[in-house]
Amino acid sequence: MSTTHRLALIPGDGIGQEVIPPATAVLDAVGRRHGITFTYDTLDWSCERYAHEGAMMPADGLDRIAGHDAILLGAVGWPGVPDHVSLWGLLIPIRRRFAQYVNLRPIAVFDGVRSPLADASGVDFVVVRENSEGEYSEVGGRVGTDLALQEAVFTRTGVSRIADYAFALAEQRRKHVVSATKSNGIIHSMPFWDEIVAERAARHPDVAWRSEHIDALAAKLVLDPRSIDVIVASNLFGDILSDLAAAVAGSIGIAPSGNLNPEREFPSMFEPVHGSAPDIAGKDLANPLGAIWSAAMLLEHLGHAEAAEEVTAAMRAQLAEGSRTKDLGGDVGTTEFTAQFLARL
Ligand code: NAI
Ligand code: MG
Repeated sequence: MSTTHRLALIPGDGIGQEVIPPATAVLDAVGRRHGITFTYDTLDWSCERYAHEGAMMPADGLDRIAGHDAILLGAVGWPGVPDHVSLWGLLIPIRRRFAQYVNLRPIAVFDGVRSPLADASGVDFVVVRENSEGEYSEVGGRVGTDLALQEAVFTRTGVSRIADYAFALAEQRRKHVVSATKSNGIIHSMPFWDEIVAERAARHPDVAWRSEHIDALAAKLVLDPRSIDVIVASNLFGDILSDLAAAVAGSIGIAPSGNLNPEREFPSMFEPVHGSAPDIAGKDLANPLGAIWSAAMLLEHLGHAEAAEEVTAAMRAQLAEGSRTKDLGGDVGTTEFTAQFLARL
């Protein structure tokens, strides 16, 4: 039995361009063993394109990739182009148009990776971040020179579906959800969030859950991360918590993410958590594992759980006993690391 998947590749800027080729090489290698063929359409959407053409992507860009099976993105952002241009000119339109309302960020501390925490072994949890509304809204404005207003947008539909996703995910894991809130300080949207999460929790009686204020939860991520299984959070809270969590796990270079359209009406997008890293771009120093792990999430999303597991198992083994890139204290470059990883796979 053979399957073909058509993927849109957006390497983007900086090390984005260095980590996507290793990720597609991994997809091809594992695909060969499982009868999966990938075809790639590589797009030049980036800050580099913005510098030449005044837009991150063509006007009909989203139409061009709406029929693809998934999107694999490296990173976008470059000095000289304001970060809100790369975000609102590319990433946010993709996430919103394709209803990728779940941002999934698994966190694991691998054997052989040094966490800044004294003891982080066994940390294994997932941040489920709301990805389509919340604090990242266009509603608001400036009034004169001395006033800015920014409204958060929370809808019953938006909160319900992200909570449902988190509880369903917890059912397949250790059956525990923590909901990030701040209902003591943010008195309209956060109590609304809390009420709806509680309603949805009632539909999953086998999952234990609790609400925790975002500040206390941030401290818990550092002090007791092993106690956490699934975190569900709004767009802003989830963004901050997942970067903190990636740091706790030892390296931003490894952390993956998926922007999911769970209904599969549109393509989902997979990307490493890290950015374009201008400080190391072009030096063969980038750790490709964040992109490779993201490719494994893509495999799982497309129904190839076994192939995905082979990739994560190879990651675990590589980190425990193989060479590593400089960010993890090793001395091999991206190219050599990728060759060794492919040989292991
Ligand atoms: P960054 O993640 O690019 O870099 C932070 C630090 O981590 C740097 O010292 C970098 O060298 C290191 N690092 C990151 N990824 C690495 C990897 N794979 N291997 C080894 N070291 C790695 O974050 P920064 O510097 O805040 O942002 C740089 C640009 O990237 C900005 O323009 C930002 O807007 C953009 N960005 C884009 C994202 C995306 O496309 N989703 C996400 C985060 C940032
Ligand atoms: Mg972030």
